[in-house]
Amino acid sequence: MDLSYILNHLGEEREQYFNAVAPPIIQTSNFYFKDVERLRNAFPNERDTHVYTRGNNPTVEILRKKIAALAGAEDALVFSSGVAAISAAVISNVHAGDHVVCVKKPYGWTDKLLNKFLSRYGVTNTMIDGTKIENFVAAIQSNTKVIFLESPNSFTFDLQDIKAVVKLAKEKNIVTIIDNSYCTSLGQRCIEMGVDIEVHSATKYFGGHSDVVAGYLMASKRMVAKIFASELLNIGAVISPNDAWLLIRSLRTLPLRLERIQATTTTVVKFMEQHPQVERVIFPFSDSFPQLPLAKQQMQWCGGLFTVLIEAKNVEQVETFCNSLKRFLMAVSWGGHESLIMPACSFMNRNDLDLADYPYNMIRFYIGLEDARVLIEDIEQAFQKMV
Ligand SMILES: Cc1ncc(COP(=O)(O)O)c(C=O)c1O
Repeated sequence: MDLSYILNHLGEEREQYFNAVAPPIIQTSNFYFKDVERLRNAFPNERDTHVYTRGNNPTVEILRKKIAALAGAEDALVFSSGVAAISAAVISNVHAGDHVVCVKKPYGWTDKLLNKFLSRYGVTNTMIDGTKIENFVAAIQSNTKVIFLESPNSFTFDLQDIKAVVKLAKEKNIVTIIDNSYCTSLGQRCIEMGVDIEVHSATKYFGGHSDVVAGYLMASKRMVAKIFASELLNIGAVISPNDAWLLIRSLRTLPLRLERIQATTTTVVKFMEQHPQVERVIFPFSDSFPQLPLAKQQMQWCGGLFTVLIEAKNVEQVETFCNSLKRFLMAVSWGGHESLIMPACSFMNRNDLDLADYPYNMIRFYIGLEDARVLIEDIEQAFQKMV
């Protein structure tokens, strides 16, 4: 893959816009035609021509070409959110009476798509522990049409053996979809491993500046054509040309940002692992991670997310630690420039801690672009506030 070419030149037809180095934001909903013949010819090929911006737009098209090439896919679509990309990928491949196998505890709105939304239309599912291939074998039914993966997930980082699942799915003619937001297409080569559809919350690393909500979908030309003609045009969750332009701009620095985040995260994880007030660190590239060999085999990059269980006598102590951090913002959407925490106790009822899905002393960290030293000093002073 010629990464420099993809990020700096692919799809950019500069002679068409005054040799400007940065592409224009073609902020139009509509495109006109000089004669009936040209309009007639455009209709059947809306994906690759310009008729109406709900279908295609030149600024969005530049982005589509770049993200498809980055993932090693034939084609791509851009949506107005990651959830829109996930929903389009799943909905396009099921009918009433079909069945989906999905990993347990996927991103919350993926769970709701399957268990609250598609269940209304007669699509059933089985949620499995995806760390064992036997669980996929056992869950597949004669009507299974989709296997949905999220490897790693974004809280406990459980992995699936992507190549093994793809092999099984191909034997049974089942479409595989993966949410690859954690690693990005650079950090995990899902399409090359044979996955049919790769989806992303582009709001995360691809956007990278916490200012755009968007989703990416990469797949074969045939699959993209099918999703374009139905879910993209019908549900209409398209991105604005302005947001597409911001995403093109973010792509220029994607590898640099990932490199920096990786280096800082490694340093902060090491600090956490030796800290006396830390019970456990969960990070796919840590020696203590149960699936480390698989992580090293299928992931080239591990990202800025890791989870820590801190030594705390009660939930109040956890809250004191979190509230004392000054450089980490408490916020949900990772992948930007700013470091974050997300404490598990924030989605629990304080009086019902035993019923919660996660231990109350679990905190997810995200490392942004700040200096490791600044972040470590901040964590240390917050630990000191607990005693
Ligand atoms: C792993 C994962 N997948 C999908 C999404 C959904 O993306 P969006 O918020 O862009 O719709 C998120 C968002 O937080 C996420 O963390």
